[in-house]
Amino acid sequence: MTEAVIVAREEPVFYRRAAEMIAESAEAAIAARGKFTLALSGGSTPTKLFGLLASDPFRSRIAWDKTFVFWGDERCVSPDHKDSNYKSAYDALLSKVPLPEANIFRMKGESGSPVEAAAEYEARMRGVFGAGSFPKFDFMLQGMGDDGHTASLFPGSTGLGETQKWVVAHRVDKLKALRLTLTFPVINAARRVVFFVGGVSKAEVLSKVLSGLSVGYPVERVKPHGDLIWLLDAGAASKLGANIRQGATYL
Ligand code: 6PG
Repeated sequence: MTEAVIVAREEPVFYRRAAEMIAESAEAAIAARGKFTLALSGGSTPTKLFGLLASDPFRSRIAWDKTFVFWGDERCVSPDHKDSNYKSAYDALLSKVPLPEANIFRMKGESGSPVEAAAEYEARMRGVFGAGSFPKFDFMLQGMGDDGHTASLFPGSTGLGETQKWVVAHRVDKLKALRLTLTFPVINAARRVVFFVGGVSKAEVLSKVLSGLSVGYPVERVKPHGDLIWLLDAGAASKLGANIRQGATYL
């Protein structure tokens, strides 16, 4: 695992660098294996990134017909619900690029049985990645909450300890809601995990997580075999310790 911290001083650079990293990974994956497997995070941070990917130069740079899009997690709502991670990505990106419908793997949050929806999603993933060991995503875009969660792996949620399943459905007590989420073994099998974290509200937790003083946040369990990159905006990076700042790349 190679780990890097990148701090974008200006917001446009924060989004552009993320788009560039996705395009670079897509080109490398397609050149090496003929396809690019991408897992998107939800929440609000990636929305402008999606819009950037849907516009040139990125729209024409990425071979969308060889790109396969998945989600790291989904809320248990319909795909047209305002809280749907799929809807966010569809509105800002998927509806604007020539990505074949068959290449879009949506988690069915609307299912009356989230447990069945999790198993069904895992089965569809196995159809793409093979039924063997954990899937090696080329690029996993991850967010982080101000409680140190990622995907829908929240503090205290039962899925934190999952070691076999690829996808689980569990209750998130703080949200009083059920969520579908990929598990840590899947995240950690990825070739590249990029935490795309913006906003000063994340600074405190981020500083503790990157300091290496394990405090038990879920994100600390992300230790991918491949690359682990923290792409931060100035607000999120505002409380990083001196040693982390010295080792970081500033854009
Ligand atoms: C979700 C996400 C979640 C998100 C973080 C950060 O479904 O909410 O996948 O893990 O990435 O909560 O969310 P913001 O970008 O809105 O701060």
